[in-house]
Amino acid sequence: MDLQGDDLTAAVVASFGDSPSDRYREVMSALVRHLHAFAREVDLTEDEYFTAIDFLTRTGQISTGTRQEFVLLADVLGLSMLTVGLGNRTPPGATQSTVFGPFFVEGSPEVQLGGDISNGAPGQPCLVSGRVLNTKGEPIPQALVETWQADEDGFYDVQKELDGPQNRAHLTTDADGNYRFWAVRPVAYPIPDDGPVGELLRAGGRGPMRPAHIHFMVTAPGYSRLITHVFAAGDEYLDTDAVFGVKHSLIADFAEHPAGTEAPDGSTPEQPYYTVDYDLVLATTEEAQQ
Ligand code: BEZ
Ligand code: FE
Repeated sequence: MDLQGDDLTAAVVASFGDSPSDRYREVMSALVRHLHAFAREVDLTEDEYFTAIDFLTRTGQISTGTRQEFVLLADVLGLSMLTVGLGNRTPPGATQSTVFGPFFVEGSPEVQLGGDISNGAPGQPCLVSGRVLNTKGEPIPQALVETWQADEDGFYDVQKELDGPQNRAHLTTDADGNYRFWAVRPVAYPIPDDGPVGELLRAGGRGPMRPAHIHFMVTAPGYSRLITHVFAAGDEYLDTDAVFGVKHSLIADFAEHPAGTEAPDGSTPEQPYYTVDYDLVLATTEEAQQ
């Protein structure tokens, strides 16, 4: 009764004390202590409290299966990247992880090695290739490579009204660990900023832009799952990514080629095109746990 200040915090922490899960008690105790400490530190007013509740309510109301406003909120607050760092020990030589983002879709179409995943998406053709390797430099055959990216207008297929997927697919590596597909050259794009997260960015004087990138999720038996991007060198937003996802090791050159020149896959595109070659190096499950 009549609980206030530190006694109130202690009572809320203690109220979780009967949970059968040690982890649940640990997490809820820390959550309550840090939440109360935050309110004390900023001397939270009731007006600010109701503003925050309204913000979170609207964040939930705008969310759908394809509009993941809470994911965006975690991303712009750096929580996603913090969790990526806590959860992924990257052994020397393995490809670094970055943020998953809200635009992955289960069940993407399968594409054969060298196939075109753009499916009519606007943009300049881009041949994306590389090998999936282990940290000893050995190829990983039959690795599952899932990829997705925005088009030249800065939109993912799920943000547009389309009949089928564009710029997303999965393929498996060949005996030498090769992956290869045609897509469009990715461009920098704004994260959706017409909702509460956009308000938060503008109130903070922040921009919504992400530098151009291609998403990859790579899995193979015995290896730790890799979720990452390949960023385009020279992009003007590499140092100001709205979701803090850029790592230097993930930046690659997207080379421009004139129409009528032979591409590495032996084709001769009739329009200017780009190529990017980037090896994706997986840690074994043991390496990832050490
Ligand atoms: C993305 O790269 O798809 C993304 C990541 C975080 C927030 C919004 C978009
Ligand atoms: Fe993206």
